[in-house]
Parts: sequence; structure tokens; C-alpha cells
Amino acid sequence: MGFVIAVDGPAASGKGTIAVKLGALYGYPVLDSGLLYRAVGVKVLERGQDLGDPAAALAAAATLDPAELERPEVRTRRAGEAASRVAVYPAVRDALRDFQLDFAAREPGAVIDGRDIGTVIAPHAPAKLYVTATPETRAQRRWKQLTGQGEAVSFEDILADIRVRDERDSARADSPMTMAADAVLLDTTEMTIDAAFDAARRIVETARSRWETARG
Ligand code: DC
Repeated sequence: MGFVIAVDGPAASGKGTIAVKLGALYGYPVLDSGLLYRAVGVKVLERGQDLGDPAAALAAAATLDPAELERPEVRTRRAGEAASRVAVYPAVRDALRDFQLDFAAREPGAVIDGRDIGTVIAPHAPAKLYVTATPETRAQRRWKQLTGQGEAVSFEDILADIRVRDERDSARADSPMTMAADAVLLDTTEMTIDAAFDAARRIVETARSRWETARG
């Protein structure tokens, strides 16, 4: 395994922005694993199927084409909601695992953000961050992002979404919202993007020195 940086955390915590900036800094490819679940959810909806049907979700996951991750439809509020519904099915998580494992195996390194990267996908990642912020702060960020994309949504609805998602994401049996024991917690509630990235960069640099020393 190369230098894998796992960036986990709840919805709209800032982990995506941090992951992209870390990727640019090190020149590593970045995978937003939430897009996989979003693309599956969108596909189920577009096929006119039910998000409550695990077989429909599995069929969508099994035929996922990486090009589907690039579609603007996967970045909507509806897609986020659908993603969190299909992500509860263990068979869907299994079907999406190989793609993520391949990405994590890329040399000389990779950045992956999600919920279960440091725990399930890359438990041996040399650098792990768990990025969080209060629900209100996360709702504020998500609301800005969605209204910036032209979606008409109220702050209250987004805050309600975030709370429901936190519940659903943490209620699962395999509980991917759990922070890995060896992850470093980064609470970005009071931080600007620049300050959060700077803190993340320092955490990763420390991990990198340790990793290089261990490799000899
Ligand atoms: O980070 P996001 O909002 O794009 O994630 C959308 C949903 O996908 C989230 O509610 C839970 C799920 N997800 C997951 O279960 N595991 C991941 N590694 C990434 C996302």
C-alpha cells in the first residue's frame, strides 16, 4: 500500500474539501466515496425503483460505471438522501468495496474520503483523519453549497436532513460512522477552510514522518 490518507466524517463536515486539497498538495488521486453511494441511489430512483428494496439497490451497485460519479445529479440533496438509504444494505457496501480497494492500492498514494475508509476500506492507512463539526455548522455549509448550485432549499430543511442522516449513518450494524481508534479528530466548527486544511496538513505530515521512519 502506498501513502493512503483516509478522511472520514459525517455529512458536510468539510472532509471533501480537505481531501481535495490534500490530493493537490501530494499529487495523489482523490476518491469521494460518497459519490458511489449517491450514484447508486440516483440510479435506483431513475429506474423508478424503490430505495427500500435491497435487490434494486444491489442491482444498481453491481452495474455501476465510474462515469456515473461525474454526473451533476449525484450532487443534489435528493441524491444525498438516496445515498444514505442504499448505504444501509451490506450487499451494496460489499459491491462497492472492490472499486475502493483498487483505488486505495494506487501508488504512490491516494486520498479517499467517506465514512468507513479508516475502519473498513483501508484499516492500515498510514494517515487517518476524522473530520467533524456541529450539525448547525454542517447544515450551514451544505445549505450554501446547495443554494450555490441553484437548489431552492431552506436552512431548516437541511438541518433536519443532516440530523436524519447522522441517525441513519450511525444506526447501522457495521456502524461506519465510528472513528477509527488510530484516527486524529479534527473539529472544524470554529475553523475557516484554510485553517481546517492547515490543521489537516499538519496531522498528515506527522503521519507521513512516522510512516517514512517505519519504512526505513
Ligand atoms: O458524504 P456524502 O454526503 O456524499 O455521503 C452520502 C451518503 O453515503 C451518506 O449519508 C452515507 C453514505 N456513505 C457511506 O455509507 N459510506 C461512505 N464511505 C461514504 C458515504
